This record gives sequence, structure tokens and C-alpha cells, in this order.
Amino acid sequence: MSSTLFRTKKVEQSLLDTEEPEHALKKSLSALDLTVFGVGVIIGTGIFVLTGTVAKDNAGPATALAFVAAGVACALAALCYAEFASTVPVAGSAYTFSYASLGELPAWIIGWDLVLEFALGTAVVAVGWSGYIQSLLENAGWTMPAALGSREGSDVFGFDILAAALVLVLTAILVVGMKLSARITSIVVAIKVTVVLVVIVAGAFLIEGKNYDPFIPKAKPVEAGSSLDSPLIQLMFGWAPSNFGVMGIFTAASVVFFAFIGFDVVATAAEETKNPQRDMPRGIIGSLIICTTLYVLVSIVVTGMQHYTKLDVDAPLAEAFKATGHPWFAGFISFGAAVGLTTVCMILLLGQTRVFFAMSRDGLLPRFFSHVHPRFKTPHRPTILLGVLIAVLAGFTPLTELAALVNIGTLFAFVVVAIGVIILRKSRPDLPRSFRTPWVPVLPILSVCASLWLMINLPAETWVRFAIWMVVGFLVYFLYGRTHSRLARREAGEEQPSVGGGTP
Ligand code: ALA
Repeated sequence: MSSTLFRTKKVEQSLLDTEEPEHALKKSLSALDLTVFGVGVIIGTGIFVLTGTVAKDNAGPATALAFVAAGVACALAALCYAEFASTVPVAGSAYTFSYASLGELPAWIIGWDLVLEFALGTAVVAVGWSGYIQSLLENAGWTMPAALGSREGSDVFGFDILAAALVLVLTAILVVGMKLSARITSIVVAIKVTVVLVVIVAGAFLIEGKNYDPFIPKAKPVEAGSSLDSPLIQLMFGWAPSNFGVMGIFTAASVVFFAFIGFDVVATAAEETKNPQRDMPRGIIGSLIICTTLYVLVSIVVTGMQHYTKLDVDAPLAEAFKATGHPWFAGFISFGAAVGLTTVCMILLLGQTRVFFAMSRDGLLPRFFSHVHPRFKTPHRPTILLGVLIAVLAGFTPLTELAALVNIGTLFAFVVVAIGVIILRKSRPDLPRSFRTPWVPVLPILSVCASLWLMINLPAETWVRFAIWMVVGFLVYFLYGRTHSRLARREAGEEQPSVGGGTP
């Protein structure tokens, strides 16, 4: 049985599967498209919302260091991702990569995990978007009824209709086609980057040096609450729960990690890239460098404009401008944030449907979902199914705790990818790699350590929720995927390999 759990899908077979006409996606993206996609999804709720929360609760002005710590972990993971993406250029991201290197069960685990990352990530960002739209509506004198507004901190049972509507509209755009959505993305990304640059440049003139004192606030004990709220590392070592101090920077890093989620989504579009071998690493690393630089600058500026204890937790960037007497800038920033979050949401949704598509093409999920639309050439069935489910989720769910769950899922994917790089170098040294991760195995091992470190800085309750999700995943795999796997059928002689040649 263990041999079937760890059966691997040959890289060449993965590539051949993408050539089958009724399962093929259109190849239309360039390195620039990928970078725009990357920046489009990376800059979002993380910088626009979470910066204020972590500065106030965990790190003060040292939030900039938290962004550096999370950025380093992501850069290490990106270097591993880039090698995989340039070696296995088919839809599905870490899922596909691990199917080619680690085996079917690890691939299933990672695919299941990515579904969690992207689905909840989409919902989190949609709810954040709804909050900004509601704040703009309030500026114009309209207030949403509480039952149809944001669920965050609301005691009224209701449904966030704006968040759900956003997800449904984006679903329709994705069904119609990749090119259309890439074009919309480029315009929105330009608006979003402009807003971020305005925050940095205009805000720099409003910095007051006294706000940086203390730069790293002293550690402060947390008032009594459930111990499951504390970072796992504090429970593991029996430390008294505390915020701020040096450890507060790492707690903050494990939260603002959400701000970096998305560069891995670039890898999910490999199959739709014209020249994945060359463009994929460029797209991933380029977008990561741009975003890390902007985050560090924004957090330095914002914590310099307003004392960290006074920062707003819902719209910190806009509120910092209001607090310093510049309401016009605040309105512009709120508008740009709302526009920018739209693309984040759309690309997470795109990544989600592509992973689901790849898993169903392999037979681990029903193959009904792997047929592309005859005219639009998009995987319309998983797009519609998941779009509707996420819309419902976004309507009913508050965002903060979900963000931590998204982070743990993504970090886990990074661990698997880094291990996969080492294994694939040994098992398939012959494969062409247009991008090679430097210092293997040292760099992938550092990447595993950095991701695990951020994971143990997340709350214990996040670990419990993640464990439950993974147990459900195991059940689905053993009750459905293992027996319906296309690879299993090929090995049993029930299905021929794809046209164009056999597997080596
Ligand atoms: N990185 C994305 C954000 O910050 C998911 O919203």
C-alpha cells in the first residue's frame, strides 16, 4: 500500500496531460503578465489592514522588521518555488510539483491544503473589500444595514452581501476568460501601486521621530484568556503569554505573512504561460521583491505618522492621514484599497480553481470538473462551484481568525515545496531546469526552518483548525481519490497514457 501512496506522476506525463485538447488551457501569459498578476494578488489586506493590527497588538514600529522576517521566509520559499515552477510548468502549483516528486499522498495533502489557502484567502479579502466599500459609502452618507454589512465585530446575525456579490462577479469574469481578467488586473494593479506610493511619499513628510520611541516596545504580559489564543511556541515552552518585545516581532511576522501570500499563485498559472521555463521564475521573484520593498516602506511611514498605540485596525493607512489632518488623502487611499483588493480576490479565486482543476484532471477529485469550456477554454465547472461556495463563506464569516488559518496552510505548502526541490534533484537530476535554486540542499532546508518557525508563532487554535481540515482531507483521499486516481488506473492498465508518447 505504501508504494501506491507514494506513486509519483512522471513530470513528462504531467506535461503531456496538458496537451490533451479537451483538458488544455490557453497559453497566453508573459513574464510581465505574471509579475502584474503577482503584484496584483500580493498587495492587499495584509498591508492595507493587518499592518495596523499587528503594530498595535504585537510589534509597534518594529512591524517593519516583522515584514522583513516574513519577506525573508517568502524569498527562501520563492527560490524553491521558482525551480519547481520552471521544471514542472503545468497548472496546480505546489500540488503538481509534489505529485512529480514526493508522491500521490503528499500531493493530495498539499492540494487539499492549497484549496484551504485560496478559498479562505478569497473570502478574507472579499470581506476586507466590503469593509472599505462600506467606509466609502459612509463617506457619501449611506450606511449599510448591519444585517447586510461586515461580520467583523458585529453581534447581529446576517450576511455580508457586498463580499458575496464581489466573489460572484469575479467568478463570472474568470469563466469568460483569462485574457480579459489579466487586462482588468493590469489597470487595477496600477491604481493600487499608485496608492501605496502616495502613502509612502506623502506620508514621509508627516513622520514625527517621537513616534518611533520605543522602536521595539517592551514585552507585555497578555491578560488572561484562552491559552489556545497564544502562539504555539509559548505553549510548547511553557512561556507566560505576552505581546511585543522581540518575540512580538515574530508573532507579527506570522500574521503579516498574509501580506505576501500570492507569489505562489503566480506558479499556478504556469500552464497558461507562453514560456514558463524563462518567465515563471522572473514573475515570481520580481513580484516578491517589489512587494517586500513597498511593505517595509509603508510600515515605517505609517508607524512614524501616528503612535502605534493610536493606529486604526480597520483602515490604518487612511486613518493615519485623517489623524494628521489630510482627509482628502484618506479618501483617495480608501478608494484605491477597495479597487486593489478586487484583483487580490480575483487572483486567489483563479489559483483556487486551477488547483481544483489539476486535482480533478488527475482523478483525485471527480473528473467532471476537469473539462474546459469549449469556447472560453477555462475550467468553468470548478470556477462556478467554488465561486458560489466562497461567496457564501465570505457572506457569513468574520475575517481575522481565518487569515491565520490561511497562513498556516500556505506555510505548510512552502515546507513541502522546499523538501520537494531536494528530492527531485536526487530522483530526476536529468530534467531541464531553467532556474536552479542556489545552494541546494542548504537553502531549501533554511526555507523549511523559516516556514516552520512562522508556523509555531501562530496561535494554537489555528493549529487545531488546520489539523481538522487535514483529517477531513485524508478521509476524502482514502474514500475517493486513491481508487479514482488516473495514475492508479494507468498503472492497473485501465487507462492509456496521453497521446504523444508513453511515460519514460
Ligand atoms: N497578500 C494578499 C493580501 O495581503 C493575500 O491581501
